[in-house]
Amino acid sequence: MAETKIEPVVTNDIRWMIAIAEEANLSPWSFRDYYEENARYDAFLRKAVSSDGEFLGFIVARYVPSNTNVTATDAEIYNIGVESKYRRRGTGSELLNALIRDAVLRRIEKIWLDVRRGNETAISFYQRHSFVQAGIRKNFYSNARDDGVVMMLDLVG
Ligand SMILES: CC(C)(COP(=O)(O)OP(=O)(O)OC[C@H]1O[C@@H](n2cnc3c(N)ncnc32)[C@H](O)[C@@H]1OP(=O)(O)O)[C@@H](O)C(=O)NCCC(=O)NCCS
Repeated sequence: MAETKIEPVVTNDIRWMIAIAEEANLSPWSFRDYYEENARYDAFLRKAVSSDGEFLGFIVARYVPSNTNVTATDAEIYNIGVESKYRRRGTGSELLNALIRDAVLRRIEKIWLDVRRGNETAISFYQRHSFVQAGIRKNFYSNARDDGVVMMLDLVG
């Protein structure tokens, strides 16, 4: 595959994001959910596109007040997805690294996310990027019931 570009999300991208999220069984965000998230000042949405314009994947994250330090801001990843035929070629890592770079520039201390306990692919992916398990939320997911694994990347520790 040719060079991958990481770019801001525009409204026309949302239909691709919904298709990838459905295919990957991610949280079912509506068009409006993505649209409103993309309009927020504290949101971080990026897409990965190939040099010939193919939509490969996306990440949705948000900067939020830290739960553990009143003066700090953390980031939370809400969704990351790569179309299945383009997986395992580094695209997910490029999307995640774009967030990590942005977070470092903003002096963010920690990046958090919840992932299904049964989603071993995503857990391996995050571990590969130095995220550690920070807790378990029993029955956190109700559609196809599953526990949530809380994972965290410490950018300063
Ligand atoms: C998780 C996801 C975004 C990873 O995207 P990707 O483009 O395939 O990831 P990369 O190619 O950058 O993989 C980087 C590393 O992650 C790990 N990894 C990725 N997929 C893996 C798999 N199927 N099994 C084991 N490890 C895996 C590997 O260490 C890999 O490095 P390597 O290929 O050199 O071994 C992708 O699998 C996906 O869209 N899954 C469905 C949606 C989802 O579950 N999102 C997470 C919700 S919290």
